[in-house]
Amino acid sequence: MQNHLNDEFVFRYKLVGSVEHIKSGKDQLFLSKMVKICCIGAGYVGGPTMAVIALKCPNIQVAVVDISTARINAWNSDTLPIYEPGLDEVVKKCRGKNLSFSTDVEKHVAESDIVFVSVNTPTKTQGLGAGKAADLTYWESAARMIADVAKSNKIVVEKSTVPVKTAEAIEKILTHNSKGINFSILSNPEFLAEGTAISDLLNPDRVLIGGRETPEGKKAIEALRDVYAHWVPVDRILCTNLWSAELSKLAANAFLAQRISSVNAMSALCEATGADVSQVAHAVGKDTRIGPKFLNASVGFGGSCFQKDILNLVYICECNGIPEVATYWKQVIKVNDYQKTRFVNRIVSSMFNTVSGKKIAVLGFAFKKDTGDTRETPAIDVCKGLIGDKAKLSIYDPQVSQDQIQRDLSMKKFDWDHPVHLQPMSPTSVKDVSVVWDAYTATKDAHGICILTEWDEFKNLDYQKIFNDMQKPAFMFDGRNVVDAEKLRKIGFIVYSIGKPLDDWLKDMPAVA
Ligand code: NAD
Ligand code: UGA
Repeated sequence: MQNHLNDEFVFRYKLVGSVEHIKSGKDQLFLSKMVKICCIGAGYVGGPTMAVIALKCPNIQVAVVDISTARINAWNSDTLPIYEPGLDEVVKKCRGKNLSFSTDVEKHVAESDIVFVSVNTPTKTQGLGAGKAADLTYWESAARMIADVAKSNKIVVEKSTVPVKTAEAIEKILTHNSKGINFSILSNPEFLAEGTAISDLLNPDRVLIGGRETPEGKKAIEALRDVYAHWVPVDRILCTNLWSAELSKLAANAFLAQRISSVNAMSALCEATGADVSQVAHAVGKDTRIGPKFLNASVGFGGSCFQKDILNLVYICECNGIPEVATYWKQVIKVNDYQKTRFVNRIVSSMFNTVSGKKIAVLGFAFKKDTGDTRETPAIDVCKGLIGDKAKLSIYDPQVSQDQIQRDLSMKKFDWDHPVHLQPMSPTSVKDVSVVWDAYTATKDAHGICILTEWDEFKNLDYQKIFNDMQKPAFMFDGRNVVDAEKLRKIGFIVYSIGKPLDDWLKDMPAVA
């Protein structure tokens, strides 16, 4: 189907010439009467994705709706609810013109021709599949609401990452309540990465659209493809069946995470043998069949999706009676957990087997640079591990607030992935954790530093000054390989860098207790 649809599209596209031509309305095939898009869920995906659609499609009205009043207020203010390079500019250009943010979910859904659903799909914490399966509560309530308020035919687009065959369930909910209205379900998973969301959206490797292989399904695919064709080259818009699109998203995240766990597994072996993981990754990545991306060893991957989506994949494999495949993917998570534990153990064992009462400066808390997002950040597990050994933490991250860090450190696993106002409250702040607003305050009088996010500013700190103000011996544990270890050693630091040849000090210390 994919080739057939793409060939047909390319052929017709050539006939009409260009997107400008399409925009001018000369080709009604592409621009049907569709004028309004609504997106349910104004989060990290819904907000930026819709802002870019609005930017690139001035002829389309885009409304982003959410049940969280605080989020919508922030989208309508000068301080957007998420930090993402380039996002402010795009939103400012379109907001008030063809882009709006609203809590009036039902009104905008009722008025729209295409409804994207980009709500949370957390890991279940209770009942069947707890700890693995996706909790589709929010998706299901969105689908029921669409069915309730719709008065005209709609294309409903899965933007959230969902288990394979979710579209079937959604179709049942919609058609069961349809009052004669036609709903076409599409899967259009999002591949943006945080920190680069705007450039990923403006210039995607591919856009994937899955739909039913029926005449209505193909029409719906075309309508959505027309939207993306405003700025995405047509050979990058892939069309598949629904199940392939749903599974491709889980597969892509699993493959990406697997590369990180592979290089992190190698980092442990490098430390044991004297090899250097950066050199190994460089040599391996030079093979064009492997490629250089996603081979940076780290303290572990974080983010809202890798773990969640792999657990989801594992659950689907188990439900389909293929435990060997489930075990294969589970190992990606296990290695990631091992990497975080190994890092904590390295710190404790290096510092005379105890960090009790010692001040440890934590530089970076976000799950990667250029975002304030802390969902599943490896910093949570590392900090909890150090707190478990009674360390006193002084944390600095340029984009993460004290309130967020305290919430993260006191929240239960998986509880973060719910709309903010429905998250379990985390009333008590974690003792022995202070959050400060610069790296020099964090490191003053510290016994050790650990770098957990690769913020650029950590490369260029005045490490001589930091060393002078620290307790001795002064330790640096670089979980992101951002500092120049040789330079720091010359200053006097004992340096541990992930997957690099070890200082003599660290050589005989057990990496994992
Ligand atoms: P998010 O938590 O930032 O946003 C989800 C939003 O949906 C929240 O603001 C919440 O209030 C709202 N919501 C929940 N139920 C609702 C309802 N019934 N009606 C209206 N609003 C509702 O989550 P996100 O990071 O944007 O992720 C959304 C989906 O996209 C997830 O399935 C995720 O796996 C997937 N995804 C995320 C990323 C990413 O980089 N964050 C990338 C690709 C895919
Ligand atoms: C990831 C994917 O890259 C996106 O394609 C996908 O859409 C998204 O998940 C999703 O589904 O949510 P994201 O989590 O935003 O995007 O960020 P990544 O750049 O993938 O980083 C994920 C984690 O892996 C971070 O903690 C990062 O520091 C870590 N990482 C990444 C490494 O440790 N090493 C690397 O080489 C690359």
